[in-house]
Amino acid sequence: MKKTQYDVIGRRYAEMKENAAFCVADSYTLLDALRACGDLRGRPALDVACGHGDISRLLAGRGAAPVIGVDVSAEMVRLARALERQDPRGIQYLVADAAELPVLGSFAVATASYLFNYAPTRAVKRAMFAAVRANLAPDGTLLAVVPNTGPFLEEAGATGARLVERVPGGEAPLMRMEFLSDPPVPFAYYEWQRADYEQAAREAGFGTVRWQSTRTPPPDERWSTAFWADYQQAPRSSLMICRQP
Ligand SMILES: C[S@@+](CC[C@H](N)C(=O)[O-])C[C@H]1O[C@@H](n2cnc3c(N)ncnc32)[C@H](O)[C@@H]1O
Repeated sequence: MKKTQYDVIGRRYAEMKENAAFCVADSYTLLDALRACGDLRGRPALDVACGHGDISRLLAGRGAAPVIGVDVSAEMVRLARALERQDPRGIQYLVADAAELPVLGSFAVATASYLFNYAPTRAVKRAMFAAVRANLAPDGTLLAVVPNTGPFLEEAGATGARLVERVPGGEAPLMRMEFLSDPPVPFAYYEWQRADYEQAAREAGFGTVRWQSTRTPPPDERWSTAFWADYQQAPRSSLMICRQP
């Protein structure tokens, strides 16, 4: 099987995520959107690009069942399965490319946190949305976290990642980034705009596409009220909510 960039990043992603303010804000925002999906107890949920299973566990924590997590990286799935063995939540993990995902069920909710920004072309992005849609129940909801664009990407700081180089060309610029771990870990994704994500979702057959503003958690010893107020001025990501009709 072809090695993916997250096969190399592996557990350093999990370490970075615990210490990155933007990831905490993303989880908070997702939880809010999941609450708005109603009672998830006993309803099936799919987490596409599950990584080490953080969002899959969030879904299981809301009572969703069964929960299936899929990721193209065998290493990330290995980490997710190891966590599942340590602390079982009844989650099943599979290695699969989202653009070629078979129909695994008829899910009430699908999450895709930082998936669509890895699509190198419009055709692949559309295929990913179509594959997720094919896995949703007629009244199902897709919650997708995508990175925002903006000058803040060049800053280091408490946000977990910084831009190394923006490489123009192709259908979208390639963003060569690094996670601010010790040592820093390089990764790369494509800089699509909100309109591009929306277009791909609609072309894949989603009838409703809307954006939810970023929610930030209450202040604590790590991040103050002032920090979150500043973050709200330029959030690093957006939550896209897509429904079939
Ligand atoms: C930034 S991580 C996010 C992980 C997890 N969703 C989270 O928010 O914690 C991006 C993940 O997307 C996965 N990924 C990238 N391209 C993919 C594809 N075509 N199909 C499935 N997963 C993919 C990577 O392997 C990686 O685990």
